[in-house]
Amino acid sequence: MKGSSSKSVPAVIGAVLVATFAASAPSAWAAPKAGDRCAPKQVGTSSGPLTCVKEGSLRRWRPSPSTKPSAVTSAPAAPAPASSVATSSAGATGTSGATKEPIKIGVALGQTGASTASLAQDQTLATRLAERFFNDRGGVNGRPIKLVFQDTGPDAPGAINAFNTLIDSDKVVGIVGPTLSAQAFAADPIAEKAKVPVVAPSNTAAGVPQIGDYIQRVSAGVAAYAGNTVKYARTLQLMSKAAVFYAQDDAFSRSETVVFQDAIKAGNITLLPPQTFLVNDTDFTQQTQYVQRERPDLVAISGLATSGNLVKQLRDSGYNGVIIGGNGLNVVQTFAVCKQQCEGIIVAQAYSPDIPRTGMNADFKAAFVADQKREPGQLAAQAFTSVQVFVEALTALDKAGKLTTDLGATRRELNDTILSGKYSTPLGDISFDKDGDVNQKNFYVAQIHMLRGDTSDVFSGKFSYVSF
Ligand code: ALA
Repeated sequence: MKGSSSKSVPAVIGAVLVATFAASAPSAWAAPKAGDRCAPKQVGTSSGPLTCVKEGSLRRWRPSPSTKPSAVTSAPAAPAPASSVATSSAGATGTSGATKEPIKIGVALGQTGASTASLAQDQTLATRLAERFFNDRGGVNGRPIKLVFQDTGPDAPGAINAFNTLIDSDKVVGIVGPTLSAQAFAADPIAEKAKVPVVAPSNTAAGVPQIGDYIQRVSAGVAAYAGNTVKYARTLQLMSKAAVFYAQDDAFSRSETVVFQDAIKAGNITLLPPQTFLVNDTDFTQQTQYVQRERPDLVAISGLATSGNLVKQLRDSGYNGVIIGGNGLNVVQTFAVCKQQCEGIIVAQAYSPDIPRTGMNADFKAAFVADQKREPGQLAAQAFTSVQVFVEALTALDKAGKLTTDLGATRRELNDTILSGKYSTPLGDISFDKDGDVNQKNFYVAQIHMLRGDTSDVFSGKFSYVSF
């Protein structure tokens, strides 16, 4: 059993934050709430305590500068408990007495690097969105959270550096990250040793939550759902022969291909000898020749963001069988890589933007669409959920009077609170099992449909969800 105590978190915590969420697109006659969008002509004007400000290409109502100290209380905030919490500075720089001093949560994502940048792009957007979203709704009992980003790049040393910096210099209460399982195996032991809670947003290889007591993930492992792609593919056509390709230098890809291979064999499809490539390969001549020679009905690819190149080269070489993929192909940034040749790729999903159409799933989708003008995908939803888990666990910890100036104690108590909580999230209702792995009910399958031929942006295609 993870955690050093058996404290439990009231099951209503998730519902509390859901209940205080207000839709981000206000009706025409409603007074704006912090975070609502405003019109170009309203920039600089005020409505009650809010001012319309320009943020990049968008405009939003934000607390006016003079009301900044209560910026996070646009939603009714719970009264501060009569304990030292009101003057605590856990995760901050050590000064106390600032009642609204932000609580710092680290975010370590692979924002740069060919194999991770396109995966981390939506993760970054969604965590930033979560920061605004939860602060607009009261933060942690009236105290804002502040996300501290450290780019891990695509490799293990980058993740180790980011974790060390977040833990020792930034003094965060916990960490969302890293992007890759391979990075988790390298960096999570550092958090484990320092007793800093980690919520992994996208690590899906077998064994990640088992790294230690302080490591949990909201990203269901490949065994939970990757095989659904094969089941769905079998409903599309008769298949007698399958090929699998995987990035042999990546932990997630090695883990996922085992699930694909088992599902293929369970479906009575002949499995050709597994073929490998490297994460950063760009020339797949060998693999396309293999497929031309063996003529499989199904190709299952386990790789990172760069594996869209393999899809493109397979299609360009004339392969017209079914292609399934994993997380590497599960982002809209893939469209720019395989362009119209992305059409039809089947991917497993641990998230649906439409199920359920209520609660935090609907709230998150509305907020993401307002921000990005497109539907969120799995990696965005999981990243948002990671921040939500921290916010709700911190809120429970604060209510229990255990969010104190002692950063070490706060980190330890926070880990226990995370593990014992129940959360109503964009992924549905989740909790953690004894290893820190996510308990999640629903999984889906989606198929890529390209809408605009050979354009290469995130709007040129879409994931069509197939309930499974
Ligand atoms: N799901 C991928 C991994 O675990 C991103 O590395």
